[in-house]
Amino acid sequence: MSETVSVKNTGLRGVKVADTKISFIDGEKGVLIYRGFRIEELARESSFIETVYLLLHGRLPSGQELVSFTRQIVEARDLPGFVYASFRKWPKQSHPMDVLLASIPLLAMADPDLLEETREANVRKAIRLIARLPLVVAGWHRIRNGLDPLPVNGHLSHAAHFLWQLNGKEPEGETAHDLDTCLILHADHTFNASTFACREVVSTRAHMYAGVVAGVGALSGSLHGGANAEVMKMLMELESEGDIPGWVKGQLDQGRKIMGMGHAVYKTTDPRAAFLKEMAQRLGKELGQGKWSRLSAEIEGASVKEFEKRGKPTIKPNVDFYSAPVYHMMGIATDLFTPIFAMSRIAGWCAHIIEEKFAEAQEKPMLYRPSTEYIGNYCGLMGCIYEPVTERK
Ligand SMILES: CC(C)(COP(=O)(O)OP(=O)(O)OC[C@H]1O[C@@H](n2cnc3c(N)ncnc32)[C@H](O)[C@@H]1OP(=O)(O)O)[C@@H](O)C(=O)NCCC(=O)NCCS
Repeated sequence: MSETVSVKNTGLRGVKVADTKISFIDGEKGVLIYRGFRIEELARESSFIETVYLLLHGRLPSGQELVSFTRQIVEARDLPGFVYASFRKWPKQSHPMDVLLASIPLLAMADPDLLEETREANVRKAIRLIARLPLVVAGWHRIRNGLDPLPVNGHLSHAAHFLWQLNGKEPEGETAHDLDTCLILHADHTFNASTFACREVVSTRAHMYAGVVAGVGALSGSLHGGANAEVMKMLMELESEGDIPGWVKGQLDQGRKIMGMGHAVYKTTDPRAAFLKEMAQRLGKELGQGKWSRLSAEIEGASVKEFEKRGKPTIKPNVDFYSAPVYHMMGIATDLFTPIFAMSRIAGWCAHIIEEKFAEAQEKPMLYRPSTEYIGNYCGLMGCIYEPVTERK
């Protein structure tokens, strides 16, 4: 048997399991790079659609390529009627992440390229997923509120179109641009739990949609994408709390988490959080809702201090800590925060699925198959003696 390297019970922290050309994190310096470009540069200069192109194709598009790619995304904004018909039958109280999870196989059934496994066909599937996830999120939100989904509008940008389909009116001021920036910031993040889940599933040669189901499921958890909604719940709970340091101490004394704080890779401030903190402060001023960014900063300060006291100086705010007040100030319902994360991360998932399927960063595709140490009941290799149920005491 080949040599076994033991990295048990560590959540694979620090274990390199594959090569990738898509993104890179320096957790000590707080740097995130997509295909060579700093995230801050992309957030300031690029658009979500251009960033999607970069992630899928490995380089920035020419002007003409961007126009053509944007057109492909716009043309793919089309949800099959049976998806809406299904939504109308589903319980209205269903969580939007569960609806998203249940919708991915429906989108798979409507994809004419589903089982075609060329790179080109997988890019076409990626384009459909990227274009359609916002339609699912907005469509479900309207149907659960007793409204009809709105028809697509080919003239609006990706973020503006989502906000329009959600609210029934075009976003004002910089809101669409700000949301677009948020989508850029969340689009990829190396081998995070959901991306790893996607890659692991497609390493079996399952199709892209099967991988994405795994990604959505992993993202829904409160230690991953679900954290942004938990942060908002915390902010609302603390809106009139007079003693934030006392609350933080109490949480930690009870072994509870401070949501939006800490990261498996960053040992300093997450660069996305730094960007979103500024956005939250600006939105607070513009919209007269400064209380949310002030409260967030207060919780951050008290948490960092308390973690330092407890010998954990590397626990700093992550992306979810400041995306929560930003989305809230945009008027977005709290339970849509994680689906919006998915609307962005779908770009990274698809890029990684393609890289995995076509071994673009390694010699050949490899099925993931780690091993475990068995520490359960054991009676030797002959196995335990099976007693018929009637004879068992
Ligand atoms: C994301 C997360 C799971 C990373 O955890 P990790 O890799 O174990 O992080 P660390 O190794 O830095 O954690 C070390 C210790 O600090 C604790 N810790 C980390 N983040 C914490 C938080 N937000 N609140 C309370 N304790 C925290 C861990 O529980 C661990 O405690 P222990 O040594 O007593 O077992 C963790 O920071 C967390 O749960 N954060 C809150 C949820 C969240 O915001 N998730 C979104 C991530 S983008």
